[in-house]
Amino acid sequence: MTNDLFLRACRRLPVGRTPVWMMRQAGRYLPEYRAVRARHDFLTMCRTPELASEVTVQPVEIVGVDAAIIFSDILVVPEAMGMRLAMQESAGPRLSPPLRSSADVRALKDPDPEKDLRYVMEALGAARRALAGRVPLIGFSGSPWTLACYMVEGGGSASYGNIKRMMLDDPALLASLLERLEVAVRRYLEAQIAAGAQAVQIFDTWGGILDPEHYRKFSLEGMFRIVSTMRREGVPVIVFSRGAGHALKELASIGADVLSLDWTVDIGRARQDTGGNVALQGNLDPSYLLASPESIRGEVRSILKKYGRGPGHVFNLGHGIMPEVSVENARALVRAVQEESPAYHA
Ligand code: CP3
Repeated sequence: MTNDLFLRACRRLPVGRTPVWMMRQAGRYLPEYRAVRARHDFLTMCRTPELASEVTVQPVEIVGVDAAIIFSDILVVPEAMGMRLAMQESAGPRLSPPLRSSADVRALKDPDPEKDLRYVMEALGAARRALAGRVPLIGFSGSPWTLACYMVEGGGSASYGNIKRMMLDDPALLASLLERLEVAVRRYLEAQIAAGAQAVQIFDTWGGILDPEHYRKFSLEGMFRIVSTMRREGVPVIVFSRGAGHALKELASIGADVLSLDWTVDIGRARQDTGGNVALQGNLDPSYLLASPESIRGEVRSILKKYGRGPGHVFNLGHGIMPEVSVENARALVRAVQEESPAYHA
């Protein structure tokens, strides 16, 4: 591997500088992505290994990030379980029909990732070949809770009222759905590792909509069971539980190698609170990439200073990069981390 900074930082090994990548880095802020997307719809891109591989590599070549993340979507798992997935230009993703009854949950398939998500495994293989060891390749899945949110609501939601009503009125039904998802996610991540993923990230994008007690029961515990039972041959696991800054200590003990923080958390305090048991990823407010390169550099400096000296930091955004960001500013972020971070590793 030419550049193993990211994997070393995940394992809290010494590095010469802090590695950097961005959640949702393969996406619409890149003109080169939009050019491919103009010719193919989103799901076709996910299902065509050559296209998925092409856009996976783009941010490595164009922006200079230290890791690639496979181009796909968390919602391909509900689709493999039998739901209909549509990506609507304006309304975002739709899963239909939404799950509301025990019959709906029973009707779900237990997907075999090697068969039902074979195209993801092939995309990983193609991306590994295209990267040719330049940087490591990250695989990913949604968390059971976050996938359940989309499956019960039928898409994104302002209030998540349907899944919260299910959680209170019929917790056994929600538990049965989460159990099915736990098995599916564990197998999916294991298959991605077998197919060449060199790290995996669990996106618990909606963990933060729960109060702390329900968060523990319906989001955190499932991720704990996945991380502690999956076969992963030393491959680092990253957990991103957005809005769960209230549970950092517990999160640090589920067995993940890296916690990915949103921007509402002070990364220096998070480092103290987690006692150096995990590496930390994050956590620049994605909106700051709309500011000037000089302002971006100032905020990069501030986060590096808060984390402090020594290994165990992967620089990232606190959530996905926005389509409105200029390539110039994405590059400015990477350059600032490259130039400002060596002082913390001398
Ligand atoms: O990080 C990467 O660059 C890899 C690719 C990736 C995508 N989605 C591509 C995508 C990853 C890691 C995801 C994860 C994902 N998908 C999450 C978890 C991370 C997060 O942002 O919280 C979630 C919640 C989804 C569900 C999803 N997919 C939504 C809500 C949307 C519509 C809103 C949006 O961001 O566009 C998508 C579509 C999607 N997934 C696009 C991309 C590049 C845009 C589709 C297009 O090109 O038209």
